[in-house]
Amino acid sequence: VSLDQARALDAADPLAFARERFRFPDDKTYLDGNSLGMMPASAPERVARTVEREWGEGLIESWNEAGWIDWPERIAARLAPIVGARADELLVCDSTSINIAKLLGSALAARPERRVVLVDESDFPTDRYIAAAIAEQAGGELRAVSAEAISDALTDEVAVLLLSQVDYRSGRRRDLSATTADAQRVGAIMLWDLSHSAGAIRVDLATSGAEMAVGCGYKYLNGGPGAPAWLYVRRDLQQALGNPLPGWMGHARPFEMGPDYVPAPGIRRFLTGTPPIVALAALEAGLETFEGLGMAAVEAKAAALADFFIEAVEVLAPEATLASPLGAADRGAHLVFAHRHAYAIVQALIARGVIGDYREPNLMRFGFAPLTTRFEDAWRAAAALGEVIAGRVYEGARFAERRRVT
Ligand SMILES: Cc1ncc(COP(=O)(O)O)c(C=O)c1O
Repeated sequence: VSLDQARALDAADPLAFARERFRFPDDKTYLDGNSLGMMPASAPERVARTVEREWGEGLIESWNEAGWIDWPERIAARLAPIVGARADELLVCDSTSINIAKLLGSALAARPERRVVLVDESDFPTDRYIAAAIAEQAGGELRAVSAEAISDALTDEVAVLLLSQVDYRSGRRRDLSATTADAQRVGAIMLWDLSHSAGAIRVDLATSGAEMAVGCGYKYLNGGPGAPAWLYVRRDLQQALGNPLPGWMGHARPFEMGPDYVPAPGIRRFLTGTPPIVALAALEAGLETFEGLGMAAVEAKAAALADFFIEAVEVLAPEATLASPLGAADRGAHLVFAHRHAYAIVQALIARGVIGDYREPNLMRFGFAPLTTRFEDAWRAAAALGEVIAGRVYEGARFAERRRVT
């Protein structure tokens, strides 16, 4: 592997043009689009239009005139081709954590004879914490088992199985359809966290048959820091399912302000409060970066980048041990490598403008956001990793200091 080879791969990359849809700092090799996607070039203008014209001049009339009131559904529709769902099955609202809470509560209410929420004990913390609290509030119990034990733990006591499709640490990918079928075989509801899938790999919610899903807006979807999250509820179930946080925005007729809650007929019932309009404008710019791109090509690009990086690290930084699945079909669009000094190495890389992140207990994580990452970035990161390790650059005292965000 060489820089020339990386550049040749970039020159031949059919998705290379997508990077032009973003503002990218020239002094950074950015391999953290899996945590915070790059800023769409259109975002400043898109947000400014909402702030200056719609808010500044239109004021409250913009709820009607600019259509703000419909944005949670209208903007969610842009996500439909990205996750293989129908537009009326998607909503953008709240955070991923809150959406998990709402859908878990909804699922438990739909299976009153069952009280177990099943999760993977190594899943992202918010999923496990929220699941424990919601299960307890419902008089039930959280069962957290190892990734390998999920299948055996699926019994007829399980009301809902909550799983990330792509693990935030290892990058390991689960088969959406096969796992959904396992859950449904015992009568459990399947709730997917697709935070590390949507926009990175091909996702076909419709084919999977899954009942519910959620995901972040700020990772591969490029919606900006703290972007609104999204949720999915299969169309045929919406009428029967309730929202455990039934706010006025999910009411069938919010401005009647009547004494009783009447859920909106479709997906809109899963709204709770007033949508964050400025943040939604940024998220729309993020989703627009996928316009015209096929998700099979997006996934293929991520796989090729990660494969190239694995090869480059083997040659340039052999002391880093791959701790993600080797086969592209078994992982998402990020990789982790283990090293005893992982934290300090990541800090030393950041000081050189190579941005990855650290995950406990000893993992260096690198993301290959397929719209914005070049093969050249992968090569530069591998070369820098090799230099930092071989030259023991990470031993510098300033690289040991733990920062609030790692
Ligand atoms: C799998 C997964 N779920 C949820 C979240 C975060 O949820 P929230 O948007 O509520 O902070 C993350 C963030 O990295 C994540 O990786």
